Amino acid sequence: MAEHTRILAIETSCDETAAAVIDDGRFIRSNIISSQIDLHQQYGGVFPEMASRAHVEQIVPVIRAAMTEAGATWGGLTAIAVTKGPGLPGSLVVGVNAAKGLCLGTGLPLIGVNHLEGHIYSHWLEPSINNWQLASVAAATDRQLQSTTGLFPIMVLIVSGGHTELVLMTGHGAYELVGHTVDDAAGEAFDKVARMLQLGYPGGPEISRVARGGDGARFVFSRPRVHGTRGARTDAYDGQFDFSFSGAKTAALNVINQNGGTTADGKLSVRVPVADVAASFERCVVSWLVEATQRAVRQFKANAVLVGGGVSANRVLREAMTEAFPALPVSFPPVALCTDNAAMIGAAAHFAYIRGLRDDLGMDVVPDLKI
Ligand code: KG4
Ligand code: ZN
Repeated sequence: MAEHTRILAIETSCDETAAAVIDDGRFIRSNIISSQIDLHQQYGGVFPEMASRAHVEQIVPVIRAAMTEAGATWGGLTAIAVTKGPGLPGSLVVGVNAAKGLCLGTGLPLIGVNHLEGHIYSHWLEPSINNWQLASVAAATDRQLQSTTGLFPIMVLIVSGGHTELVLMTGHGAYELVGHTVDDAAGEAFDKVARMLQLGYPGGPEISRVARGGDGARFVFSRPRVHGTRGARTDAYDGQFDFSFSGAKTAALNVINQNGGTTADGKLSVRVPVADVAASFERCVVSWLVEATQRAVRQFKANAVLVGGGVSANRVLREAMTEAFPALPVSFPPVALCTDNAAMIGAAAHFAYIRGLRDDLGMDVVPDLKI
C-alpha cells in the first residue's frame, strides 16, 4: 500500500540555502532557493566562512517561505529531512541544526540525507518524470519500492562542482560506486577554466555560453590515463570508469599562454581565442563523460541512464549523452533541478522514510560522506 508523506527538506551543503516541501517524494509543493552567487562571485569560488554566515542569515526566512508557499502546517508534516553531507562543514551544520531544532520543537522524525543521493532522486520529482516519459517510472513512485525493479540496474552519472561519480543503482537506496574523478570534479574544472578565461562564476554556464560561437575541434586535449590508478576507492574496476580533468585544465592554460596569456595589467590578451578554448574544453570533457558512461552501461548491463548534478544542465552533455544511448531511457532533471536544491533532498528522504530510516537528534554532519 502506498504511504503518503509530506516532508520539509533543508539543504545547506555549499552555497545555496534551500528548503522545500515535497509530497510523496514526487510532488513539489514549494522549492525555495536563496543563492549566494553574488557573494562569492568576487572571489571566483565559494568562500566557506562567508557561506556559513549567509546560511545563518537565510535559513529561517527560507524555511518559513517554503512552509508558507506550500500552505503546509507543522502538524501536517511527516518528517523533516536535511543534507548531512558531503559538503562544507560550516555550511552543513547550519541546516542540520535548524532541522534538529525543528524536530525537537515539533516531535517530527529527522532524516539525514546524502547530498549525492539527492541528485539521484531529483529524477523522481514530477517534472523529471515527465521528461523521462516512462510510465513505468511514474508507476514506480506510486507503488514505491517494488515496481522499479524491472528498471534496475540504473547507471547514474553525478557531475557537479564537487563530484564526478559513476554510481550503479541496483535498487532504492542501493548503490555501488564504480568510478570517480581522481583529481578535479567536472564542474570544478569548468569553473577553473572559466576563471583562466576571465569569465564569470560559476564557470560552467559561462563556458557553455561562449562556447556556442567557438570551434570545438580546434584544440584537442589529450585523454588522461587513469587506468590502473592506485589508491582510488574504485580499485575493484582498476580505474576503468574513473575520470581526470586536471590535465585538460593545464592544457587549456598552455593554449592561453601560447596565445598571449595575460597582459601586464592582468587582462587577458585579445589574441586568446576564448570561444575556441571554451568550446574545445567543453567538447573534451563531454566526450570523456559520455565514453566512460557507455563503458559502464555495457559492463553492468544497465537498463537506464540518469545524469544529475550542476553540470547535467550543460546542453552539449545532454545532447551527446542522449545520442550515445539510442536504445535506453536517458534522464536529465529539468535545468532548475540540476543545481543544488532542497526538493531533491525531500525526494530522497521519502524513499529513505518508507524504508524505515530515521536519524536521532544526535546526528552529526559528515562533510566527506560517500555514497
Ligand atoms: O550540483 P551543483 O549545484 O553543486 C555541487 O554540488 O557542486 O553544481 C555546481 C557546478 C558548478 O561547478 C557549475 O559551474 C556547474 O555545476 N554547472 C555547469 C553548468 N551549469 C552549472 N557546468 C557546465 N555547464 C553548465 N551549463
Ligand atoms: Zn550538488
